[in-house]
Amino acid sequence: MNNLSEQNPMRVPGHLAIIMDGNGRWAEQRHLPRIVGHRKGVDVVQSIVDECLALGMNHLTLYAFSSENWGRPREEVEALMGLLGRFLQKELSSLQERKIRLNAIGEIDRLPIKIRKILDDIVQKTSTNNNLVLTLALSYGARNELVRVVRKLSARAVAGEISPGDIGETDVVAALDTSGLPDPDLLIRTSGEMRISNFLLWQLAYSELYFTDVLWPDFNVVHLHDALSEYSRRHRRFGLTAAQLKKMDDKTKEWGN
Ligand code: IPE
Ligand code: IPE
Ligand code: MG
Repeated sequence: MNNLSEQNPMRVPGHLAIIMDGNGRWAEQRHLPRIVGHRKGVDVVQSIVDECLALGMNHLTLYAFSSENWGRPREEVEALMGLLGRFLQKELSSLQERKIRLNAIGEIDRLPIKIRKILDDIVQKTSTNNNLVLTLALSYGARNELVRVVRKLSARAVAGEISPGDIGETDVVAALDTSGLPDPDLLIRTSGEMRISNFLLWQLAYSELYFTDVLWPDFNVVHLHDALSEYSRRHRRFGLTAAQLKKMDDKTKEWGN
């Protein structure tokens, strides 16, 4: 642990989301094929999952492949799918050992059938695990997710199950791919890019955002602790005033929760 987090007791977010970016640049800087960066990126995933588990985090959501990433050169997409398949095959036993539940969001039916089968199998086998929930965003795009929400809700309206005027935020939340998951408390994006790139547009409404120049293959536990220390210093207000939040906090303490 670094000095900063020793000075400021670390507040661990209940739900951390990460845009794991910079694999290609990491490899290009070393005059290596981009896939070498992706391979190194997978190793980093394993160490970060371990640390989140050790910190007692409840949810970790990783942006692994976006809807737009299908547009990359065919060889890169195929290599990424190969890596994903091998990662999943290798992970099952360690997920079981560590009682991690695997979850996936995105247009899963666009993934190669072989990967879908492995994924379905792991999601089902780990469904009763009660440590960390690890959600992989695969073939995920938030705009596409929202379009699918609109389709689901309008189909229910046409079937007479709901009236359009009664549709509320809870109906939208229940129709999102992330239904059942809390919103992320903290979003980390690596590689210096300061954008969301179509990730969790609805769910990130009140998340704290943290950007670092570190490329994903170089990201390590110390960098994670730096992000969590920074998160610990943030004051989340959710549109209210600091005085209102203090009052609510005092009330909660009074009730002994
Ligand atoms: C992130 O790294 C991984 C995926 C998007 C699949 P990139 O491949 O985007 O790496 P850069 O941004 O080109 O360096
Ligand atoms: C976002 O990274 C997607 C993932 C990390 C999986 P990109 O590299 O695809 O995003 P842009 O193109 O820089 O916005
Ligand atoms: Mg990128």
